[in-house]
Formats: sequence, structure tokens, C-alpha cells
Amino acid sequence: MPRYAYVNGRYLPRAQAAVDVEDRGYQFADGVYEVIAVIGRRPVDLEPHFDRLDRSLAELDIDAPCGRPALGLILRRLVWLNKLHDGIVYIQVSRGVAPRNHAFPPFGTRPSLVMITAPRRPPGEDAVSRGASVICMADNRWGRPDIKSVSLLPNVLAKQQAVQSGATEAWFVDRDGLVTEGSATNAWIVTKNREVVTRPLGRELLAGITRAAVAEAAKMNNFKLVERPFTVEEAKSAAEAFITSTTSFVMPVTSIDGDPVADGAPGPVTRALLEAYRRKVYGAEGEGA
Ligand code: PDD
Repeated sequence: MPRYAYVNGRYLPRAQAAVDVEDRGYQFADGVYEVIAVIGRRPVDLEPHFDRLDRSLAELDIDAPCGRPALGLILRRLVWLNKLHDGIVYIQVSRGVAPRNHAFPPFGTRPSLVMITAPRRPPGEDAVSRGASVICMADNRWGRPDIKSVSLLPNVLAKQQAVQSGATEAWFVDRDGLVTEGSATNAWIVTKNREVVTRPLGRELLAGITRAAVAEAAKMNNFKLVERPFTVEEAKSAAEAFITSTTSFVMPVTSIDGDPVADGAPGPVTRALLEAYRRKVYGAEGEGA
């Protein structure tokens, strides 16, 4: 267990770290979060994560708990205290503590800020060559999954259904049969003519930080990036499919609803994008996973 957690101004031994029972994050899921990778003690894409945190807070009219420099200092200090080499930092901001009432609490209620870390190795070659199996299900989430809210019950249930059926991830599918995203990942396919396809950003999916980095890597490596929605059928007959996230990097999808994608092995474009992403997060020396 990591040694320390940060809770509202204090670095506490993990076992003593707790939030108030009337925290609105706990009672109403009235809060937002970020998951940031730490590789070799360095946070990956910190500014884009902070940008997205600011946007989520603004969309829900929650005050920032502190300025960005302070947030960065807290994060680095926690990484240091916990001697975190490779892992994640989880940041959660809720609207704060107030007597239970659906309406926002009175002006002046301070948002709650919690930060924890967890060691985690980036996906290695075994995981990548096994790939991820995906099952598809109706997207029953609220209308704003672009906000990184802690209200994740549909995601939790979708992921659990995937796990119970022996799969790795669940893809949400909208009413038109188009894939929105995974329960905790963005969804991609590679067409037979090597176009790299992912759904354009909108209110119905999260603007993944890894998605942005991989889109950039695709362009830099001369792949044609096409932002358009795709159906489950198109994904099943695609040349390749993969998912992206802070924790899964670029993970090949080797089966969808039990059917293999192409020959059921990770494809070359996916591998090239994974390598490009690894180069970016490991820096110039290009340390392997
Ligand atoms: N999940 N879509 C959803 C619904 C997500 O929850 C996530 C991230 C992503 C990918 O975003 P990013 O590339 O910024 O990690 C897409 C995090 C890792 C989580 O909830 O644990």
C-alpha cells in the first residue's frame, strides 16, 4: 500500500486518509477526476491532464481546489513521498462537504481535493501480444461522458460484464450502432487501406489524453488519421483494432464479441503506434516496457 495520500491540505498515512461522510463526491458522485501515468518518476502529459481537469470542473461549475502550480507541487510531492517509479496518480475533486441536499451548497463551500498513487507497470510484451478482447453493449450513460465525472456506474457495470464473460474491455455502442468508446478507453480501428480511424470528439465520449497523443503519433508516422464514427460490424471486419488510455497505452484488440479481429494477432499499425507512444513517454532513450 502506498505510504501517503493527500486529503484537503494534508499528506496522511494511507490508513488514516479519509473523506467526510457528507462529501458530495461520496453522496452524489458530484465530482471529477484524472488518472495520470508516472513513468520513471515523471508524470506523463501533465498539462493536458490539468487542462482537462479544469474543463471538467468548469462544465460542472465546481471551483478549482487550488491553482495549477500548487496542484503540480502536491502531485510531485506525493510521487516523491511514495517513492513511485512507475504507476498512476489519481486526482479527485468534489464539490465539497455539505448537509445532504441535491442543490449546490451555499457559496463558499470549498471543493475537496484527494490525491493517491498506485504502482503499476506499463503493459509489457506479454499483455500486448495477448491483446484485449472486447464485448459490445448499449451505451446507457448520461449525456455528458466528455466530462470526466466520478459518476461511473454504467462504466463499472459494463466492465464487470466484460470481466464475467472473460473479456478485457466493454465497448459502448450508441443508438445508431456506432461505437462511442470503451468503459475506460478510447476505441480505434485500422482499415484495410491502413487508415487509422477513431470517433471525433463530442459530448458522447471522453477526449482521451492518450487518444490525442496517438493521433499526433499517427500523423507524424505518415498514417492517414480519419476521425469518424465506425460500427461494430466495421470493427469486426477491420484489419486491426486497438484501445488507448493512460494505463493501457496502445493495446491491440484481438477479438470483438468472441470473433477474432483479422487473424487475431496484434497488427503492424497498432504496434507502430504503440512504439511511437512508448518513445514519447519514455523519452529520447526509448526504454522498452
Ligand atoms: N480512463 N474513455 C473513458 C470512459 C475513460 O475512462 C478513459 C480513461 C479514456 C482514456 O482517456 P486517457 O487517455 O486520458 O486515459 C477514455 C482512466 C484511465 C480511468 O478511469 O482509470
